[in-house]
Amino acid sequence: MHELISFTRGVPPTEAFPTAALAEALAASVTRDPAVVLQYGQQQGYPPLRALLAERHGVRADEILVGNGSLQLQDLVASVLVRPGDTVLTEQPSYDRAIATFRRRGARVIGIPLGDDGLDLTRFAAEVARQTPAFVYLVPDFQNPAGITTSAAHRRAIVALAEQHGFWVIEDVPYRSLRYRGTAEPQLRELGDSRVITMTSFSKLLSPGLRVGYMIAPAALITRVTREGENQYLSPVLPTQAAVAELLRQGLLDDTIAALLTLYRPRWQAMLQALDQTLPGVPHSTPDGGFFVSLTLPPDANSADLVGRARAAGLLLTDGRAFFAEPLADTTPAGERFVRLPFCAVTPEQIAEGVRRLATLL
Ligand SMILES: Cc1ncc(COP(=O)(O)O)c(C=O)c1O
Repeated sequence: MHELISFTRGVPPTEAFPTAALAEALAASVTRDPAVVLQYGQQQGYPPLRALLAERHGVRADEILVGNGSLQLQDLVASVLVRPGDTVLTEQPSYDRAIATFRRRGARVIGIPLGDDGLDLTRFAAEVARQTPAFVYLVPDFQNPAGITTSAAHRRAIVALAEQHGFWVIEDVPYRSLRYRGTAEPQLRELGDSRVITMTSFSKLLSPGLRVGYMIAPAALITRVTREGENQYLSPVLPTQAAVAELLRQGLLDDTIAALLTLYRPRWQAMLQALDQTLPGVPHSTPDGGFFVSLTLPPDANSADLVGRARAAGLLLTDGRAFFAEPLADTTPAGERFVRLPFCAVTPEQIAEGVRRLATLL
């Protein structure tokens, strides 16, 4: 049997981890500050890390909560903000675990179709006018799963609607610093911060195993979410937060990001090139960064049991339906025809071969 090629999880490859620097930073931070780092407490996060992040983002430390990865923060925010009967809006498609998390907290999760510039603004405006959601969840930079970046005009319109109707906007931006070309769009929080919750994570920049993610939001909301976190896990994991602080202090985060861009850029190019050459008739997203390219197969493509047939051909794919929330009444989700192709944890050779196998199945 030939080598199995995995286009499934959006995880960094082992060679992406700054292992030696992290080992040193963990040892140094535990040795320097055991009374805090090895103790209960600091429910809002390790104070030196919060101070460094506050400086980096130009906000106050009481507007930052550092928790055990951003998925857990999404869960805490949903448990604070979602009331029975509430809706949560997402892009359609969206990050599968976020959809599942919001549903678990009781929300009805509705997907607004995603175009090349972000979610469909006309449908979004109509939906928020019909029922004010608890929040809208967006991955505006190099979206997981589609690879789309929301335009500045869409960002401005979404923030304006949030302020007008009084709902929260979560901008989840773990891929934002992994840009392979072009210039960044403004963050939603830069366009109006009273209704914006920014979430991000060191999972894609240092290591997912650290479980360090953080959110930026108005201090009153941070206080409520911190209390929820304390009720659920007592204290966050402090040694890894302290190690991240150590790396930031030494200026090593930016060096690590530069090394990731060098590692990932050829993989990103290989994926776009393989799709153009091997599947020329199937339109795909053309992200400027991040982990994912996606495509929606044409209605007449052979998409039945694509995941099963791909596995038999030595290719692992995620079932596209997982990325789709409840559709708006007048839309038909194309989940079974949606294919997410993460390219960072596979070599250019594996990418070319994986796309070739995919093409044989359609
Ligand atoms: C958009 C998005 N948000 C959140 C996460 C989870 O991040 P963390 O490891 O910080 O929980 C992921 C991981 O794939 C992701 O793609």
